[in-house]
Amino acid sequence: TGRCVPGVRRVDGGARVVKAIRLDYGNFMAPRLPGGVEPTELSTLLAPAFESALSVVSAWREQGRLGFLDLPYASDSVARVAELAGRYRESFDDIVVLGIGGSSLGAIALRDALLGPFWNQQSAGQHDHFPRLHVLDNPDPHTYRALMNQIDPARTLFNVVSKSGATAETMAQYLVVREHLDEAVGPDHAPSHFLFTTDAANGALRQIGEAEGLAMLPLPDNVGGRFSVLSPVGLLPAAACGADIGALLSGAAEMESRCHGDALDSNPAGTLAALLHHADTGQGRTIHVMMPYADRLRSTALWFQQLWAESLGKTTSHSGEDRPTGPTPLAALGATDQHSLLQLLMEGPADKVVLFIAVDDPGADVPIPQRHSEIDALSYLGGHSLGGLLASEHIATAEALRRAGRPNATIHLPAVDAHALGQLIMLLEIATVLAAPLYGVDPLDQPGVELGKQLTYGLMGREGVPAPEIAEVDPRWVL
Ligand code: PA5
Repeated sequence: TGRCVPGVRRVDGGARVVKAIRLDYGNFMAPRLPGGVEPTELSTLLAPAFESALSVVSAWREQGRLGFLDLPYASDSVARVAELAGRYRESFDDIVVLGIGGSSLGAIALRDALLGPFWNQQSAGQHDHFPRLHVLDNPDPHTYRALMNQIDPARTLFNVVSKSGATAETMAQYLVVREHLDEAVGPDHAPSHFLFTTDAANGALRQIGEAEGLAMLPLPDNVGGRFSVLSPVGLLPAAACGADIGALLSGAAEMESRCHGDALDSNPAGTLAALLHHADTGQGRTIHVMMPYADRLRSTALWFQQLWAESLGKTTSHSGEDRPTGPTPLAALGATDQHSLLQLLMEGPADKVVLFIAVDDPGADVPIPQRHSEIDALSYLGGHSLGGLLASEHIATAEALRRAGRPNATIHLPAVDAHALGQLIMLLEIATVLAAPLYGVDPLDQPGVELGKQLTYGLMGREGVPAPEIAEVDPRWVL
């Protein structure tokens, strides 16, 4: 009929109907939310700010700074990922990603969302003989040893992921693993157990990989760690374990085109960025909680936490004065955190907003049987399902927050699948770069992380870095 059904978009000339994710921000708006954003404020305050943010972001894009926007269309790179993934799937039972921050959180989010709970604990038959997927990010020796005791090095691929090829944690993990592999399978076979995902031209990993002829996947120069989940950084491990990266990228492409518009009321990423920025700087709601109602999306909330924090938490210069700025993201999980954080969200300081993620179709649901009809505390549950309970808990929590005057919005996913996840990832990435000009910061750098890195290098004796003076422990302040 050509009519547009909310949440449903036609692509491929109408041959396929795919569902778009929806952003419901009604619980930010007055009078529905007591003290909420007035509809007129959207057009008089938020829309003009968004328009100037969009022009900054468009200029960044033209300057070639926002490579993540092009990732859904990088067909050569995707073909290479698919080819390698197919090969690795045949040869290995376990894949271990060595990487940290933006080089690990995306792979974890994709694994947990798309492969489902307990993937690594299932038998090979249960996951159709696709490999297990582990991520070693923190250089904690206990985790390292425990993982190494579980895997057979002869049947394991180590995907070393580092854009810079210099991050201490990842380089240390590589050195340890490489030594272990040389001993376990012999120095001649060890190289075939490594894949480096790193900068196309620079860095120590590139240097080692080229010298030793190791398999490598290049990262575009203009894609930084926390925006790299849809590059080979996230795609290779996901594809090797059987995730549908084609659907992931097509979802991302659809969201990318949905967010081109310069009208705030039809641009979901712009709306999200403008509302969250306004809540922070205009209403003192500095803490931004992301609370999915699906265990499979818990890691996505952690991925977003890094994206939002490292991109927006910066020092800006205001009238010649340095000023700290940026929201504080907090990853939570519904319904679990209803029994942990919700009391604070409801009645604690009015300095928080909540971004829920709800799932329309939970997939395989579990019916709740009718038993104990004589006991009120149980009888009402019978005949419902676990998915239905989770959905009701989201609705109830959003409503309770609204009644308490606490702003919240919900991103509705049709399902937790690759297509919806691709849309969600792109939505949040674009919202992040649009929020950056609103805060007056560059979303792509992280200068605050540098000092700690330099001090670590100095403490560990890196060539050319002086040993730092660390403020001495003062016994008066130690109990
Ligand atoms: O988002 C970022 O840029 C950072 O979190 C990096 O991903 C992290 O520091 C790891 O860097 P690299 O990929 O260079 O090892």
